[in-house]
Amino acid sequence: MPRWLALPLALLACGCGESHDPRAAAAQSPAAQQSCIECHGALQPGLLATWDAGAHARNDVRCEDCHGADHEAMFRAEGRVPAEVCGRCHAAQTEEFLESVHGRAYDDATTNPLFLAQIPAVQRQACLGCHDTGPKTGRCDGCHLAHRFSVEEARRPEACGMCHCGPDHPQLEAFELSKHGVVWAATQDENQAPTCVTCHMKGTHDASSGLTLGRAAHGAVPAGETPPVPMQAFDPARIEREREIMLRRCDACHMRRLSRRALEDADRIKRHADRLVAEAVRIVEGLYRDGLLDPMPEERIAHPTAGHAFAPAAAFENQSDPERLFFFLAQFAHSITFKAAYHQSPDYLQWHGIASLKSRLDELRALEGQIRRRKDG
Ligand code: HEC
Ligand code: HEC
Ligand code: HEC
Ligand code: HEC
Ligand code: HEC
Ligand code: HEC
Ligand code: HEC
Ligand code: HEC
Repeated sequence: MPRWLALPLALLACGCGESHDPRAAAAQSPAAQQSCIECHGALQPGLLATWDAGAHARNDVRCEDCHGADHEAMFRAEGRVPAEVCGRCHAAQTEEFLESVHGRAYDDATTNPLFLAQIPAVQRQACLGCHDTGPKTGRCDGCHLAHRFSVEEARRPEACGMCHCGPDHPQLEAFELSKHGVVWAATQDENQAPTCVTCHMKGTHDASSGLTLGRAAHGAVPAGETPPVPMQAFDPARIEREREIMLRRCDACHMRRLSRRALEDADRIKRHADRLVAEAVRIVEGLYRDGLLDPMPEERIAHPTAGHAFAPAAAFENQSDPERLFFFLAQFAHSITFKAAYHQSPDYLQWHGIASLKSRLDELRALEGQIRRRKDG
């Protein structure tokens, strides 16, 4: 008989069924006196079945190993299990994860003006729905979903796709619409088609390895160049090193000539898109310098981090028309263009990317013309 069916007695004994407040009932009955499995098997049979199907149940890693035995503490923590708890048994993965970009995601989001401008429930359900991975509330269940905590699940593109999707980072969509995604859909075989993990996380929890110019937000530039919008800058020697790491991942299936050509084309597309953004920056900055933004930064509600300073690309609300157009151009169209190029999706690159970037730039030029004519006339 499965463990989770051996329960009704435990549930009757705890009186949970009668209580108006199940938490109070649980608190009255010290968890240590009854088995977590008996009680929660009755309360959440699905949760138990999922745990039962995973490697932890097979290796006798039990509820209390992750949650402890103190219900009050669990309620205070809202049932969360931070990465450091997993780290007691998986030290190497936890260290790599917390030092990686995924470990920084919480801090990057919560200090961002877009975050600060939202009501707390939106902060929790939108931004933190994807960024709640850092050390403060560090969670390993982004890819290894509770309670199976499986490696197989984490290797599937869908595990990454919940977060790596949408108009600012459509890696899932681009992958699905690339030849790689098509071969993956047809074979589900990692030896025939690469998945996100083949190229980014094979044998490591450091997702940043192998990346050069294509990175979060607006990407990167080689050190010494002045990017049009905030970007990371990398020493060219490091760029070479990281590119070699990525190319080695392609070697399993391709000749160097093909993979190098594809990545160098993507680099060219990234630099081309950067130049289009630079022109957009010049337009918006020119309007700001000439006092032509309506309203001007000093006339609006203070920006959460920049105050009344001019900060294009930093918000999608409480902006003038040219800045709003610029935000969508830089944050979405620019990102899609180079991210689609690195993931070889012709459709995302052409229509959601470069076509959108260029037509928004045309709109911005036209808007500038109208504003300047209105001022002169
Ligand atoms: C007597 C029955 C009973 C026992 C034994 C029991 N629990 Fe619970 N547990 C509950 C009830 C009831 C709740 C509250 C459910 C709710 O609020 O919907 C709860 C809540 C929880 C939560 C969710 C906390 C939150 O705020 O989201 C966790 C995690 C949990 N229990 C883990 C355990 C662990 C681990 C053990 C064993 C050490 C255990 N429970 C033993 C009945 C029990
Ligand atoms: C390997 C660690 C681990 C083990 C073992 C484990 N849990 Fe969890 N549990 C988690 C994580 C991680 C979460 C997700 C918490 C979060 O949202 O951050 C969670 C969430 C929960 C929740 C709240 C989520 C919900 O959907 O309501 C309950 C209740 C819970 N666990 C009970 C249990 C019980 C009962 C067992 C034993 C059968 C158990 N857990 C075993 C790590 C574990
Ligand atoms: C729970 C959401 C979530 C899941 C699931 C997730 N990621 Fe991420 N990932 C993020 C966030 C958020 C960032 C950006 C963090 C930052 O820059 O602050 C990120 C960044 C990255 C980066 C960029 C690294 C860099 O240095 O710029 C790569 C590559 C990456 N993830 C790969 C993956 C892969 C592969 C998977 C699946 C195995 C995955 N991610 C699953 C949220 C997630
Ligand atoms: C008490 C020690 C312990 C804790 C705490 C623990 N694990 Fe494990 N974990 C194990 C053992 C033992 C195995 C099975 C042997 C192995 O694969 O190393 C395992 C296996 C795994 C696997 C491989 C599963 C597979 O499909 O092969 C993953 C992934 C994993 N754990 C993730 C986690 C996460 C995430 C947490 C925290 C939420 C966690 N573990 C907490 C001991 C633990
Ligand atoms: C971004 C997605 C992602 C997150 C978040 C994540 N993992 Fe993993 N994990 C993976 C992938 C993918 C693999 C399989 C790697 C491979 O195939 O080489 C893996 C493998 C594992 C394994 C199996 C042993 C190994 O290294 O292959 C363990 C244990 C593990 N992870 C624990 C953790 C712990 C603990 C955390 C949190 C500190 C965590 N993982 C967070 C994606 C993730
Ligand atoms: C065939 C290999 C390959 C596959 C499959 C792949 N990527 Fe990438 N990915 C790359 C390359 C190449 C780059 C850019 C490298 C550089 O900057 O030099 C990249 C860049 C990224 C970045 C940084 C921002 C960007 O898009 O440029 C993220 C995040 C990312 N990939 C996530 C994913 C996710 C999630 C999946 C699966 C849905 C995935 N990748 C599938 C090769 C791959
Ligand atoms: C659907 C999941 C998701 C949501 C919702 C989300 N993000 Fe992200 N965010 C990501 C991913 C994935 C990346 C990495 C993109 C890449 O590398 O291509 C990222 C990147 C970032 C970065 C760039 C970090 C850097 O290195 O420059 C910041 C800042 C950020 N997000 C803030 C936010 C804020 C603030 C919110 C809420 C208003 C938010 N995000 C909502 C998934 C999400
Ligand atoms: C696990 C095997 C595998 C790996 C690893 C892999 N690919 Fe592929 N790739 C394929 C398959 C299969 C196709 C489809 C071949 C075809 O039908 O044209 C393909 C197609 C391509 C194409 C399209 C070629 C064309 O003829 O249109 C490009 C470009 C490409 N891959 C680049 C890369 C790059 C760059 C990497 C490494 C970052 C990489 N691939 C890693 C299996 C792989």
